[in-house]
Amino acid sequence: MSNSSAIKLAGLRDFESAACTKLSREIYDYFSGGANNEITISENDRAYDRIKLRPRILQGVRERDTSVMILEESLSTPICIAPTAFHCLAHKEGELATVKAAVKANAIMMVSMASTVAMEEIALVAKNNSEGLTPKLWFQLYIQPDRELTKLFVKRAEDAEYSALVVTVDSPVFGMRDRDIRNNFHELPDGLSLKNFDSIKSNSSVRPTLEFNSGLTWKDIDWLRSITKLPIFIKGVLCGEDAQLAIQHGVDGIIVSNHGGRQLDTLPATIDVLPEIANAVEHKIPIIIDGGIRRGTDVVKALALGADAIAVGRPILWGLAVNGEQGVCTVLKMLQEELTLAMALCNCSSIKEIKKSLLYSIL
Ligand code: GLV
Repeated sequence: MSNSSAIKLAGLRDFESAACTKLSREIYDYFSGGANNEITISENDRAYDRIKLRPRILQGVRERDTSVMILEESLSTPICIAPTAFHCLAHKEGELATVKAAVKANAIMMVSMASTVAMEEIALVAKNNSEGLTPKLWFQLYIQPDRELTKLFVKRAEDAEYSALVVTVDSPVFGMRDRDIRNNFHELPDGLSLKNFDSIKSNSSVRPTLEFNSGLTWKDIDWLRSITKLPIFIKGVLCGEDAQLAIQHGVDGIIVSNHGGRQLDTLPATIDVLPEIANAVEHKIPIIIDGGIRRGTDVVKALALGADAIAVGRPILWGLAVNGEQGVCTVLKMLQEELTLAMALCNCSSIKEIKKSLLYSIL
């Protein structure tokens, strides 16, 4: 927060408490809540606490380098922004504020197909940053029942220079969110809309609504592979068999995700399934994990268990709600500084040195 008299926030969880006071009950609950009894949300939250660190001493590590390679691209941080919908519910500038912060932090932003600013406008604002930084934007896609509509989105992502597609595959149908039912929250307030679909209405015969698609198979991934050269990440992988199938189907990377506990409740924490997936993947393609990462030490644990990078979803929304672009900048900076601190205390000079031997136990 820019105001010096403002309450100091000491971590990403403090941002959630601060955001809670800024947002209406319905909106806070929509972002914060998840499926049914929210067992998976609490698993995501608690699982990192069960894993304990096992640092080495006296390693003479004076400097920390947090850079990672993802698909032959060097990134200065393994921290990415997970796709989340409806940023204008959190702050009036919505995804434009988020993307400005992402560019400043040099972080990959996975832009949701359900954004409240059009994907082209987000890309343009990112590109026109005053520091001359290169944006790292990936586009999150739900493969639509209407292939023409899906094709149109892929073409738009290519034209707007998104550099990868993130295909969410854990949502054959929409999950049941008890808080939204209780709050009767089922549509965007007046004035907000799924902006990516608005522009389609006037100039195309395709059906311009976002639909979940329960008919998807690996053949649809093959089809998607055949229509684009963009790298494809599959988001929502939760077991080794599916990770291997993803590799066989030419997928470029996977995102281990349980959709922030918002779809199928009683799934395990993503960090608990990561070792199985890392074993199956054998470093053939990059693995990104999201779900419950709130501390630098959580990032270290995820990297130690085989992730190449991590993504945060809700904390970005909390930063946005608290203070727009600046709030998101602070969230990203805090997590990055905590990661560097954790590396310093663990005597790791580079991300490569973060290995399983840095952990006491995997429960
Ligand atoms: C959308 O994907 C949501 O989880 O609300």
